[in-house]
Order: sequence, then C-alpha cells, then structure tokens
Amino acid sequence: MNSHELESRVDAIRWYHSMDLGRGIATKGIDDTPARLSRLELPISLAGRSVLDIGAWDGFFSFEAERRGAARVVATDHYSWHGPTWSTKAGFTLARELLGSRVEDLDIDVMDLSPDRVGTFDVVLFLGVLYHLRHPLLALERVAAVTADLLVLETVVDMVGFGRPAAAFYPGRELNGDPTNWWGPNPSAVNGMLHAVGFERVRTITPQPSMPYRAARAIWHRARGRASALSSAFRQDRAVFHAAKRA
Ligand SMILES: C[S@@+](CC[C@H](N)C(=O)[O-])C[C@H]1O[C@@H](n2cnc3c(N)ncnc32)[C@H](O)[C@@H]1O
Repeated sequence: MNSHELESRVDAIRWYHSMDLGRGIATKGIDDTPARLSRLELPISLAGRSVLDIGAWDGFFSFEAERRGAARVVATDHYSWHGPTWSTKAGFTLARELLGSRVEDLDIDVMDLSPDRVGTFDVVLFLGVLYHLRHPLLALERVAAVTADLLVLETVVDMVGFGRPAAAFYPGRELNGDPTNWWGPNPSAVNGMLHAVGFERVRTITPQPSMPYRAARAIWHRARGRASALSSAFRQDRAVFHAAKRA
C-alpha cells in the first residue's frame, strides 16, 4: 500500500483518539489523547504484566500499555465498536494492523465482565467510561472482580468542593449534549465507591484545584463558549484515581 492509499484509509475513519500510527501518519481524533495520557501517571514499565483496557475504542491506551512492555493486553469495548452514533471498530482494527500490535480484542459490555468470562488482570484501565454507565457502583464491582492488582480510573467528576460524597445525575443531554452521560460523582464519592468494591488503597492522582483557580478557569471557559453554564464549569472536572487491591 502506498502512502496515499494509507492516508485515505486513515482519513476515511471517524477517529476518537489522536494517535501516531508511524510512517508520518497521525489520526485526527476529536480527543487530545496524548494530553490525557500525561495525566494518568501510568507505570513507566508494564513489563511482564497483563493489562485489560475497558472501553478501549480506537485502542490508544491498549497500544501504549503494549509499548510499555505489557506481556498481554486485552482491549474490550462494545458501544463505540457498533456505531452508528459513536463510530465503529474500524479505527482499532486499522491502528492495530499499522502498529503491528498483538493487542487482543474482546467485544463485551462492562456489566458482563467477570473472572469466568475474561480472567483477571494485573492492571486494569477504566478510562472515560464510568460516567457513561447507568449503574456505576455495580459496574465498579464488575471491574474490581477482574482486577488483580491496580486499577487506573479516569472520569468526569462533578459536585467538586461539595463537603460530602455526592454525584450529579445528568438527565437527557445535560452533560456535553451526550445522552449516554449519566453520572458525575465527586472525588470523595469515587474514593468511597472504590473502597466499597474492595480496593484497599485509593490515591487521587490529579491535583484538586483551589476554589479561586476553579472560578477563574470557569470564567475563562465560559468566555470561549466552552461551557454552557458558569456554575457547572466551576463544579466539573476530570480526575484520575489509582486503586490497589492491597494496601
Ligand atoms: C469517552 S470514551 C473513552 C474511550 C477510552 N477509554 C479513552 O479513555 O479514551 C467512552 C468509551 O466507553 C465505552 N462504553 C460506554 N458504555 C460501555 C459499556 N456499557 N460497556 C463497555 N464499554 C462502554 C464506549 O464504547 C467508549 O469506547
């Protein structure tokens, strides 16, 4: 395949992840994925470890785990691999081919994960999925059951600064106009849920910005038309958690 044909194949796909596929070709994803990777504090080396990437979509984080030496990586998804609203599996399949990757794929819903169905994994990535689920605590039980050691969780958080564990519920298209967004827990709710499903040690990786910083950021986003309401821009954020089975 010449480079022109290759570019046409890449450009024909509606990418979510922004990903370098080598040979001078990068996907034009709607997500700034390298910036998100820098906030996850993934272990530098995953040598010899097994990794499960739940809700992998185009597979950026699965391929990154493989690049970091993981012995086995399984990418799972369901919703976005079946279109029509959220694209298809074509991006994952093409990226895997072009990267010469051995990442395995499994079409399975979060709610169907169990040690019997998929086994257990040293490291589980659960990135950008929690707030899409109608039953987040139940989903975390499923995720905990297949995590042997470390869970890396990234999610939208809401009600930030509220004194108690709490979660915002998004009816209809309230969050980002997307009807598949349901819940925005605050960091202490995520922490509490992770303990409740059996993780002994939970660390919040992302720094929690101060009230004045959040206020200034909300005004900045609003001024650029990136937030529908000042109050929600003030309360909402994204956060990363590392949860370990043993203290
Ligand atoms: C915002 S994307 C995040 C993709 C990727 N994990 C990342 O962080 O860039 C949400 C992903 O969650 C997946 N997802 C949503 N509901 C799911 C479910 N019930 N079971 C499995 N995956 C689901 C979607 O298909 C999509 O790939």
